Amino acid sequence: MTRTPSLDVHLQPDQLKAALRKDAEAGLTSSPKWLPPKYFYDARGSELYEQITVLPEYYPTRTERELLRRFARDIAAAASPEILVELGSGSSEKTRLLLDAGVAHGSLHTYVPQDVSASALAAAAEQIAAEFPSLAVHGVVSDFSKSLHHLPRGGRRTIAFLGGTIGNMVPGERAEFLSGIADVLEPGEYLLMGAILVTDPSVLVAAYDDAAGVTAQFNLNVLQVLNTQLNADFPVEDFRHVALWDRENAWIEMRLEAARAMSVRIKELDLDIEFSAGEQLRTEISAKFTLDGIVKELADAGFAVERTWTDPDDRFALLAAARE
Ligand code: AVJ
Repeated sequence: MTRTPSLDVHLQPDQLKAALRKDAEAGLTSSPKWLPPKYFYDARGSELYEQITVLPEYYPTRTERELLRRFARDIAAAASPEILVELGSGSSEKTRLLLDAGVAHGSLHTYVPQDVSASALAAAAEQIAAEFPSLAVHGVVSDFSKSLHHLPRGGRRTIAFLGGTIGNMVPGERAEFLSGIADVLEPGEYLLMGAILVTDPSVLVAAYDDAAGVTAQFNLNVLQVLNTQLNADFPVEDFRHVALWDRENAWIEMRLEAARAMSVRIKELDLDIEFSAGEQLRTEISAKFTLDGIVKELADAGFAVERTWTDPDDRFALLAAARE
């Protein structure tokens, strides 16, 4: 029997807006200017991101899906999850492979998708509940960096953090985030993480600067988000998408470059921001990992990595890490 999914909202639209105001004010008055990547994902941005995931140059999504397709059974056997919590679940598209395996393994009874986007989450939860009648589905609308204490109890948990989203954090934030996850888990519960590995820079850069220009549109859309949400007047057509590989930090950095000097008014913040010609605003870092490096970061946070799975080209890794 299909049960109706429940939806817990720990993040109201006005809280998201308040966070945007604060982050935009802090980032745009800094030097160099920056914005956090979480504001990419309004309805339009989420749609563009879905388009990115099927671009020929953007290999992470399909590589991770292939790993899940091949190894979901091994993952279920290793972690024996009763509750699968997915942080940043989005469309839950790849998760079905894990849910299938968890149900077949006989352990899984509950799926807890978590996302900042209430609309994406509600739709995904409905669909999953219909497709997996044996599972209870509890959606959580929240900001995962702040709401780990909302996680459910009542069974052995696996927290899935897929897609390489860990790369959006700088090393200090990652350490804090991973320790935070370790804090809410009991010994023997699991974190299943997806990480994009360091590879040929030309492959990496192409993945963030595709020929069709979809990533450029995705990047530029964040200015539209500011225009709409904060009543700003960014001339979107006068910014250019930049993606570069920072070898020292081992991350891809996305930026928006002002084509000309300009002053931008952000009405809702009562703020005027000056850009010089050629000035760049950083909109995302997407860190890439070595297998040894990410295993060490997990160990430092209190996890023992029990299994790792990588694709034949060593471009992506899935890691099953047990809370010690
Ligand atoms: C969703 C954070 C994993 O960093 O590869 C894709 C976002 N940005 N193209 C990534 C993204 C530009 C993506 N993550």
